[in-house]
Amino acid sequence: MAAIKEVKPVRKEFRRVGAHSHIRGLGLDENGRAKFMADGMVGQAEAREAAGIVVQMIREGKMAGRGVLIVGPSGTGKTAIAVGIAKELGEDTPFVAMTGSEIYSSEMKKTEAMMQALRKAIGVRFRERRTVYEGVVSRIRIGYVKHPFNPYVRVPHEAEVVLETRDDSVKLRVGEEIAVQLLQLRVRRGDVIWIDAETGEVHKTGRICEKREYDISVYKCVEKPSGPVKKEKEIVHLLTLHDLDVAYAAQRAAAASFLGMPLTREIPSDVRQRVDEEVKKLVSEGRAELVPGVLFIDDAHMLDIEAFSFLTRAMESDLAPILVLATNRGITKIRGTDIESPHGIPLDLLDRLLIIKTRPYKPEEIREILRIRADEEEVPLTEEALEELTKLGAERSLRYAVQLMEPARILAEREGRAKVTVEDVRRAAEYFVDVKESVRYIQQYEEKFLK
Ligand SMILES: Nc1ncnc2c1ncn2[C@@H]1O[C@H](COP(=O)(O)OP(=O)(O)OP(=O)(O)O)[C@@H](O)[C@H]1O
Ligand SMILES: [Mg+2]
Repeated sequence: MAAIKEVKPVRKEFRRVGAHSHIRGLGLDENGRAKFMADGMVGQAEAREAAGIVVQMIREGKMAGRGVLIVGPSGTGKTAIAVGIAKELGEDTPFVAMTGSEIYSSEMKKTEAMMQALRKAIGVRFRERRTVYEGVVSRIRIGYVKHPFNPYVRVPHEAEVVLETRDDSVKLRVGEEIAVQLLQLRVRRGDVIWIDAETGEVHKTGRICEKREYDISVYKCVEKPSGPVKKEKEIVHLLTLHDLDVAYAAQRAAAASFLGMPLTREIPSDVRQRVDEEVKKLVSEGRAELVPGVLFIDDAHMLDIEAFSFLTRAMESDLAPILVLATNRGITKIRGTDIESPHGIPLDLLDRLLIIKTRPYKPEEIREILRIRADEEEVPLTEEALEELTKLGAERSLRYAVQLMEPARILAEREGRAKVTVEDVRRAAEYFVDVKESVRYIQQYEEKFLK
């Protein structure tokens, strides 16, 4: 008998833990009330509940062309809440995240960078009704012939497949193109597949799992389909306006490069006009549907006056995504001007935004956020070490406390400890200072030498 033993990896494989990897949603109950701790979110109840209302408005299509601004001090979860909104909206709603400073890239004009971001945030859902053969494969036989140029190689030539549903069974004989796909997709008995009657494209939906074959399987278990094998099926694809722009521009670029015209990274505006016209036509014919997604711009005070006026104008167009901005600035100059404005955002744009505020955390909230982050970063803490970090988080900042975790873990490991103790945290805090301390330190020397 073969003995099988599980081998625990010594050190976990490379996995980048992003700052917001623990956020899985907004953590609201069915009445939209924030649970103290859910979906990786802790506390900050009003802001999360407000974000929940925004999510509902987006889902009901009541937010198009409007925006949200999340304001609050640094480290109070503004970005975390935006990530929560994205998670709540689900896969099907486009969500584009950028920071205000990203528009100053040297590769593209500012307005082009913003235009692309805007168009990535608008989806177009195409629905198509197609005739397909769908069912469980109950028999499959692939017929081979000799390769025309190499008699030692056999190539698939045709196939015979029997597809079954609860009510029907159809035997299909298919040609080479489909036989090749059946092989490539490794279609076996018990797989649920559908074949497009017109194009011959084969799709594998999953497998009928009667009994558990293995503990871990890579395929999805599905139910046996019912109804006829040959039927009409609705197929949905979601593309963004940017995808369509790129596809259309590429077609033209191929022609242009043939004629020796230079290529640019920017998409010509007439391409966008054409795409818009086509999309509007498809929508009015009922063949496509617009899915306004979310464009999230973090550190919105980094945008300049041109970018703001571009955004304000874009929000008024009929193909506009929902804008979510975040900033930690109070009254400050609008970049590119000498005008001071709340959050560095021009008033005409501010007027169009719903404002959500985040407030500084209480120690109990900090403790739970740190606990979640410690778990996420796989840093085992003793209760006292967590208390010490909570104290640092409350006195200095939450970010600072989070950043000390990994150094503290290394210090503990060097001492041969499995868990991080108070001493490790204190030593980490001696090695790495927070911003207030680093500024105070430099100022002390400036007084002595630099004057
Ligand atoms: N309510 C919360 N629940 C769980 N984790 C949170 C919460 N608030 C913040 N965090 C986490 O704390 C860290 C700091 O929060 P975040 O980056 O969202 O702050 P911010 O308000 O965007 O700050 P800044 O103004 O500096 O950009 C992140 O890792 C974030 O995921
Ligand atoms: Mg942030």
